[in-house]
Amino acid sequence: MVDVLLGLQWGDEGKGKIVDYFAENYEVIARFQGGPNAGHTLYIDDKKIVLHQIPSGIFHQSTINLIGNGVVLDPVTLKRECETVSGFGVDVKKHLFISERAHVILPTHRALDKAAELSKGVEKIGSTLKGIGPAYMDKTGRNGLRVGDLLHKSFTTSYIRLRLKHQKLLDNYNFTEDIGEWEEEFFEAVEFLRSLNIVNGEYFINQQITEGKKVLAEGAQGSMLDIDFGTFPFVTSSNTISAGVCTGLGVAPQKIREVIGVSKAYCTRVGGGPFPTELNDETGEFLRKAGNEFGSTTGRPRRCGWMDMVLLGYACMINGVTQIVITKADVLDTFPEISICTKYKVDGREVEQIPFQMLRTPIEPLYQQFEGWHTDSTSITELNDIPIEMQNYISFISNNLKVPVSYVSNGPGRRQLIKFT
Ligand code: GDP
Ligand code: IMO
Ligand code: MG
Repeated sequence: MVDVLLGLQWGDEGKGKIVDYFAENYEVIARFQGGPNAGHTLYIDDKKIVLHQIPSGIFHQSTINLIGNGVVLDPVTLKRECETVSGFGVDVKKHLFISERAHVILPTHRALDKAAELSKGVEKIGSTLKGIGPAYMDKTGRNGLRVGDLLHKSFTTSYIRLRLKHQKLLDNYNFTEDIGEWEEEFFEAVEFLRSLNIVNGEYFINQQITEGKKVLAEGAQGSMLDIDFGTFPFVTSSNTISAGVCTGLGVAPQKIREVIGVSKAYCTRVGGGPFPTELNDETGEFLRKAGNEFGSTTGRPRRCGWMDMVLLGYACMINGVTQIVITKADVLDTFPEISICTKYKVDGREVEQIPFQMLRTPIEPLYQQFEGWHTDSTSITELNDIPIEMQNYISFISNNLKVPVSYVSNGPGRRQLIKFT
């Protein structure tokens, strides 16, 4: 069977840490969408590692890690990351597998991402500029090159043909960038990629499932960045929700068992787009400092605000979430009072649903207040030891969503996690 772990907000919920923690219970960890726009942080022996392409199970000797067909793969990032994890003694040739159907991000995809963002001016998405949008456009536009194509002698010819197409688009944008150096790195990395385990991902994973192996599908980004259900157009270009597991790995829906939704104890977003509970004040600034809210991929400061139940309820619905992990609860340790948005006021009416257009429609978040716990929670390991105010806060979230909270994370460390149910 396949369990899924994914973000319920706008990404950076702490998925990497939680996957790393859960990984010892699984034989296979698989990424099913997204690409190097993801930045999943783990701590191994107190050393911080940020993974962009490789699944977060890579540091467990007993796991196989699969990059599924739904992922867009940047060979340069992958090579660099393989070198990093190899430095920790991981044998990538043994533990990492890549679907031949995963699409490849070319240097010109990155240039096109930049050009598209520049042309949008103030309305830019705030993309990570990793070439994600253009690579997925080439997939749905039926132009893209896939990992399996790298193994064929026609690859260079296909590459040149696509590059020419991209050049015309870049000329249209009046965008010039010397990508000579990127291309050099790219071809070196392609050579390296050819030496890895390139497999037919769908047969591979179904074989594992048939053999009774446990699979954890690791989401990237978050539900509100989903191309269909997120805050469009301020989204990424893939299906980040649980349905993406089926198309991004080639597993049937009835194989999916648990859907573990990860949410911060508050809310953040990086890049543009609507964020009803955003705090553009001292409290927001305090959250950013206390939570060290700076992008793992781009270093940009993350926008911060209170937890939003309208948004979480929606995310639980579209994902079929069966359990929730709340992260970064310790960030709220010193807050005298904590707010949770339970409803929106839209056009003078109280609503519990997300409006179609969140920017054109003014949204007033309605809050419920909770007493803070004024306790350093970072060394708590047992549910019995948590402050009653923290218990109340978590119980409210769980009752409101009608989904059990299974764990609360109280620090970035591998073992800083309190089991709830
Ligand atoms: P991901 O993209 O969902 O994997 O999340 P990121 O790694 O981009 O961002 C989460 C950040 O929060 C990282 O710096 C983690 O080390 C850190 N983190 C994760 N869980 C906790 C927690 O419970 N408490 C604190 N203080 N930090 C955490
Ligand atoms: P993880 O997996 C947070 C955001 C970008 C931008 C929008 C589109 O670490 O949670 P893209 O590069 O995909 O075209 O950018 O999506 N974004 C993320 N925000 N965490 C991520 O990944 C993100 N990946 C993309 O900031 O607003
Ligand atoms: Mg991240």
